Amino acid sequence: MENLHDKRKVYDKSQLSENEIEKNPMAQFKKWFAEASRLADETEIFEANAMSVSTVEADGCPRTRIILLKSYDENGFVFYTNYNSKKGKSLEQNHCACLHFFWASLERQVIIKAKLEKVSEEMSDEYFQSRPEGSQIGAAVSPQSEVIPNREFLENKLKELEEKYKDSGVVPRPKHWGGYLAKPYEIEFWQGRPNRLHDRILYWLENSVWKIYRLAP
Ligand SMILES: Cc1cc2nc3c(=O)[nH]c(=O)nc-3n(C[C@H](O)[C@H](O)[C@H](O)COP(=O)(O)O)c2cc1C
Repeated sequence: MENLHDKRKVYDKSQLSENEIEKNPMAQFKKWFAEASRLADETEIFEANAMSVSTVEADGCPRTRIILLKSYDENGFVFYTNYNSKKGKSLEQNHCACLHFFWASLERQVIIKAKLEKVSEEMSDEYFQSRPEGSQIGAAVSPQSEVIPNREFLENKLKELEEKYKDSGVVPRPKHWGGYLAKPYEIEFWQGRPNRLHDRILYWLENSVWKIYRLAP
């Protein structure tokens, strides 16, 4: 077994205190996201909007994958995917999910528990049409999460669709591809601190009011 016991870092970049945080977690997220985005732009090391999304599968076990956050506002967080994918199928049965951001350079994580619903067809259409044509065709080509015979299967389908749409230049959004809005009911902000005594502030939605708690690290 490879021993990683010596891989230890001291977390001392910042702190999170009840006196400084925003009353609303989405405002707090906006603040942290701006800082992460600025750092990502400077270093080009990570994408600040890359998040882990966990859903619960039919066997009761969670499954996690990285997804790009595409927008957010006071209602929640929006991402786009294939509704027939593994995550899409999980969400048909259980609409709860956990979104997770880890911004290593800032020694921060954000954990969001949310109920997911599909965004409107108009919103999905609008975002789909804003994507580069290659990504649009890619979404139409891929039966995401299904077993496919080989790489050629995708390449052939790509050629076929490129040919089909080359004159019109308009790729219609596949009906099985679109956005989800994750409406949060719990958001935890975690800031690394020395001696493993990290700051954890939890926002919890109780009767439509965000309550704020400090959790032990
Ligand atoms: C950096 C990064 C960004 C990704 N963004 C997306 C995305 O926005 N939407 C998406 O469906 N998959 C995205 N993926 C692929 C997913 O991680 C995953 O492989 C795919 O959605 C299938 O997941 P599922 O089979 O669990 O449903 C991304 C992967 C990486 C590494």
